[in-house]
Amino acid sequence: MNILITGAYGQLGSEMKVISEKFSQHTYIFTDVDTLNITNEAELQAFFTTHTIDYIVNCAAYTAVDKAEDDKETAYLINCEAVRLLAKTAVTYNAKFIHISTDYVFDGKSYIPYNEEMPICPQSVYGQSKADGERAAMDIAPNQMVVIRTSWLYSSFGNNFMKTMLRLGAEKTELNVIFDQIGTPTYAADLATAIMHVVNAENFVSGIYHFSNEGVCSWYDFAIAIHKKAGITTCKVKPIESKEYPTKTPRPHYSVLNKLKIKQTYNFEIPHWEDGLERALRIVNSE
Ligand SMILES: NC(=O)c1ccc[n+]([C@@H]2O[C@H](COP(=O)([O-])OP(=O)(O)OC[C@H]3O[C@@H](n4cnc5c(N)ncnc54)[C@H](OP(=O)(O)O)[C@@H]3O)[C@@H](O)[C@H]2O)c1
Repeated sequence: MNILITGAYGQLGSEMKVISEKFSQHTYIFTDVDTLNITNEAELQAFFTTHTIDYIVNCAAYTAVDKAEDDKETAYLINCEAVRLLAKTAVTYNAKFIHISTDYVFDGKSYIPYNEEMPICPQSVYGQSKADGERAAMDIAPNQMVVIRTSWLYSSFGNNFMKTMLRLGAEKTELNVIFDQIGTPTYAADLATAIMHVVNAENFVSGIYHFSNEGVCSWYDFAIAIHKKAGITTCKVKPIESKEYPTKTPRPHYSVLNKLKIKQTYNFEIPHWEDGLERALRIVNSE
């Protein structure tokens, strides 16, 4: 199969590149904004008239959550309008379309893990732009779409919480980390594996799915685990409340996703977040 990966220089796109080597029966085309700007309809048309594509995996996104509050237009262009264009293109060229969305479509006020049926209620421009993007795509290509909502994504590629904790752990003797936001970290390599389960499945079952690693923790627990597993002993991590670390956009207090649907439909198991973290750290250490 011919698989187009957009946003290939990002965290998830980079992990798709790594995993593609394991699934060499497929042909992959990796693009980023400089080779295929997904907001540009003419570029998309030109690309699809010269390439035969069976799967689009959209790893491109506007992911700067706080910046999006002042840059609504760009966030919507990339997270909604471009996703609408990709869905239209998928229909025209009969390609399947795997799109990535976020836990930020929810308000974070639940006390049980979010399943795919629960009502969305985004609390930020970023969350709303992602919610509108997934809705638009599902409306245009309902039978060709798999939308995977994920949370707390990190990788050995790019900038993320794990990398920040490693850097600050080496620089500082004390660090304050929020303990009242609960969720599950997602190692982007494990999300890339889940995407390949969808691509390689005998039956493509369209719909919205949730994916993160297994287990639950706070950012504080995640930071402690990063330092412990990385052997950082000279930095004390202290738990603080969200109100002590104000951000431009309020973060959801509860982001745990229920992954039953993707596990049952596509028949695979998901590693625990600590297992994912250990594998990510091994790669960081080897670099
Ligand atoms: N990061 C998280 O914690 C998190 C949590 C939940 C869900 N997600 C979702 O997971 C997905 C992957 O996230 P990620 O962390 O891998 O994102 P990322 O590292 O920010 O990568 C996104 C990539 O998309 C590229 N891009 C931006 N505009 C583009 C355009 N117009 N055309 C083509 N490419 C474009 C970016 O290029 P530039 O860098 O040059 O702009 C970047 O390489 C996204 O859908 C995101 O919303 C992320």
